[in-house]
Amino acid sequence: MKLLNFVAFLLCLISKLVISEEVSPEFTKVWGPGLLPDLIVMPARYFFIQAVDIKNETIEESLPEGFNVKIEGLTELNKPCRIWVNNLDRKDGSYIIRYKMYEPCINMNIIIKYKDKHVSESPYLIKNKVYSDDCNCPLKNVDNFIENWECEDLPYFMSNKISNFGDIDWDTTRDKLIQKFNQPLAVSICQYIIKNNEIYRKCYGKYVGFSMFMDSILKSLVRKVKLPDLEFFVNLGDWPLSSFDFPEKYPILSWCGSKSSYDIVMPTYDITESSLENMGRVMLDMLSVQGNTLEKFENRIPKLFWRGRDSNRHRLDLILMSREHPELFNASLTNFFFYRDEEHIYGPKTEHVSFFRFFDYKYQIAIDGTVASYRLPYLLAGGSLLFKQDSMYHEHFYHQLEPNYHYVPVKKDLSNLLEKLKWAMENEEKALKIAKNGQKFANENLLPHNIFCYYINLLKELKEVTKSPVRIFEGMERVNQTKTQDCKCTDNIKDEL
Ligand SMILES: *[C@@H]1O[C@H](CO)[C@@H](O)[C@H](O)[C@H]1NC(C)=O
Ligand SMILES: *[C@@H]1O[C@H](CO)[C@@H](O)[C@H](O)[C@H]1NC(C)=O
Ligand SMILES: *[C@@H]1O[C@H](CO)[C@@H](O)[C@H](O)[C@H]1NC(C)=O
Repeated sequence: MKLLNFVAFLLCLISKLVISEEVSPEFTKVWGPGLLPDLIVMPARYFFIQAVDIKNETIEESLPEGFNVKIEGLTELNKPCRIWVNNLDRKDGSYIIRYKMYEPCINMNIIIKYKDKHVSESPYLIKNKVYSDDCNCPLKNVDNFIENWECEDLPYFMSNKISNFGDIDWDTTRDKLIQKFNQPLAVSICQYIIKNNEIYRKCYGKYVGFSMFMDSILKSLVRKVKLPDLEFFVNLGDWPLSSFDFPEKYPILSWCGSKSSYDIVMPTYDITESSLENMGRVMLDMLSVQGNTLEKFENRIPKLFWRGRDSNRHRLDLILMSREHPELFNASLTNFFFYRDEEHIYGPKTEHVSFFRFFDYKYQIAIDGTVASYRLPYLLAGGSLLFKQDSMYHEHFYHQLEPNYHYVPVKKDLSNLLEKLKWAMENEEKALKIAKNGQKFANENLLPHNIFCYYINLLKELKEVTKSPVRIFEGMERVNQTKTQDCKCTDNIKDEL
């Protein structure tokens, strides 16, 4: 577990290998939502530092000694704010700086220096009061949120999917939907109502514990912005529900989509949770995975690495292939459940390996488990070259990925994996380029900022197509905030600053 370090301010001295390029504090780039903490409230804020040398060229080696970052401010009682700062070295000349605030803060200042000289636009003085994530200070409406956060629109594929429902009238579909999917042992589904920025739900099914993930993101959102009144249904299971085969189209929100279903896809519970809980309960998130690699791509072990459980026949095929070519693969199963009677063939199972250590290796593969493998965002972020198995399942962002640009596609039966892997080994430069594109995609589309924006846009677009009035039903449970602070809210709206 991480040691929480409550300190008035934290000075992080960044010391690394000495390199030849001379850093230019002026040209060095600094960007990210963590530089606008008054406008963008997150559980953990973050920004990036990319070293640039005096010839204005990007430094791609580990950073030299001399950078330091200080984030400070005052509470209403004129005491130093408690801010926990954490820096993640990406081993490629760049850093991710994350920080978590434990109380509202005024006169906040972000100071980034290289050997006593301010870097880029430092110091970043924040004029408005900055809220911690547990402040219950909703902006007036989602448009304010979208502006403050500079959210991009929903990807076309998803937006199109929502508008294809035309007008959603829950008064004519609600009962049919509940009747169809009220199969307690097979399906877990919850009806959610947002009314006056309060959350209510009623769940159907025997296993409804996963509603906590939906609860968490909604609770976080209503603290940040007043959501429109809205009714919707959330599928808590992995399999999409709204099959093309049914006579009725049901606009159900799901973590995973498929080529043969109408489900509207949200970020998986996994990446949703890690966006909410980074620098908290979750170790693996889209930022930590970049700060815990030991080597940049060029220095990683040239093998395809894979660990996982036996939740799909093709995973077993990978094990056989890896045995035939131990010089190319390091793959094994860590658990047997679905094919337990074949453990003597595909076993023995091996020890669990920390996900961070996957990136000691140059090549990674995403193979379906029961549905899409929810680790794909992290595999992209880790900066190795990703091979992705063709699949009928998708997460919310797959349609934005381009084969052979962000990843290397392989057939569902893996029959061309060997050939593609050899190609990558013989074409190091192209492989590196694809790996970099994949990581860039992850950083521009899958970080906590993007996940919040996705949910907000999703709810906004759902509101636009929902025609039925919103009311609270008998027997619904109210989802309450667990912990909030009285933060004496004032609206921080971009245009008014
Ligand atoms: C440095 O390079 C960036 C592009 O990476 C460019 O936008 C900027 O204008 C350059 N600055 C100078 C002073 O040449
Ligand atoms: C496979 O990977 C694991 C974890 O990195 C390592 O401990 C093991 O030695 C590797 N096996 C081979 C044969 O290289
Ligand atoms: C949420 O709060 C309301 C009002 O304080 C209370 O009636 C309700 O029981 C709470 N819900 C839960 C699930 O604790």
